[in-house]
Amino acid sequence: MAPAPIRTAVFPVAGLGTRFLPATKAMPKEMLTVVDRPLIQYVYDEAKAAGVEKFIFVTGRGKAVIEDHFDIAYELEATLRERDKLDRLEEVHSAQPGAGAVSFTRQQEPLGLGHAVWCARELVGNEPFALLLPDVLVHSDPGCLAQMIDVYTDNGGGNVIAVEEVPEDQTHQYGVVEIDGEGDVFKVTGMVEKPPKGTAPSNLIITGRYILQPEIFDLLEKTEKGAGGEIQITDAMLAMMDSQVFHGLRFKGHTYDCGSKVGFLAANVAYALDRDDLAAPFHAELKRLLGL
Ligand code: UTP
Repeated sequence: MAPAPIRTAVFPVAGLGTRFLPATKAMPKEMLTVVDRPLIQYVYDEAKAAGVEKFIFVTGRGKAVIEDHFDIAYELEATLRERDKLDRLEEVHSAQPGAGAVSFTRQQEPLGLGHAVWCARELVGNEPFALLLPDVLVHSDPGCLAQMIDVYTDNGGGNVIAVEEVPEDQTHQYGVVEIDGEGDVFKVTGMVEKPPKGTAPSNLIITGRYILQPEIFDLLEKTEKGAGGEIQITDAMLAMMDSQVFHGLRFKGHTYDCGSKVGFLAANVAYALDRDDLAAPFHAELKRLLGL
């Protein structure tokens, strides 16, 4: 029997974004712009392209602009139409979800990613779902989530985690998996959040894309604070491994950690160089800046 389709995606957007202060004092980190689209738009597009129909955002105080971003802006649309800026209007329309496709819930306190996901339990219901962290952009075609759904389908369901390799001296900053197998798809047998230096079970880190079964919510409810004093999704996934299968996918594509300044700046350069309308003039400008 085919596994239940992945129709729902959860986007946790309630974090404080402290690494980007003061930019994130009054503006959500997830609205930071890579070229001309906010981060949250890229991950929404990735989920939509993978077949997701229901988009759930876990927001917090100061994040209302994310709701506005996904709403219809009547005045703007009327003005664009009046001024005959139809290509801009089309751009706005294509970024917009259909009526009733998005829902918002609040994480009242930023107690950690695991807690943010738990806040979406009623909206997700009893079905498997995708979890996408908006500050991680994956530059790939097909998108990372679409690649993961293929793995999910080929393996008859279960849970899937996107992983990528990092140099061993960086593993202590991430969630790290222990694996059984080789190649691009393998069983995940363990995981640990931010392991102390020299103790990581591999150099494969969890990269911000997950397909999870709904049983994760009961485990999140019982999960105590972990690394960094936050409720960690990694701890709940580890507990779920006793009863459920997890596959890891070494996906095709390049990741930009836009929660860090260097990753965010690199994403802007990479995505600009990938744009037909910008590549040539931007390349020339980069050469000038680098003195080449
Ligand atoms: P991060 O840990 O990268 O985001 O969480 P942060 O805490 O906002 O950033 P810094 O470290 O202070 O700069 C990854 C994603 O999970 C969300 C964030 O909004 C981000 O999109 N998140 C994190 C929550 O929704 N709630 C939380 O309690 C923590």
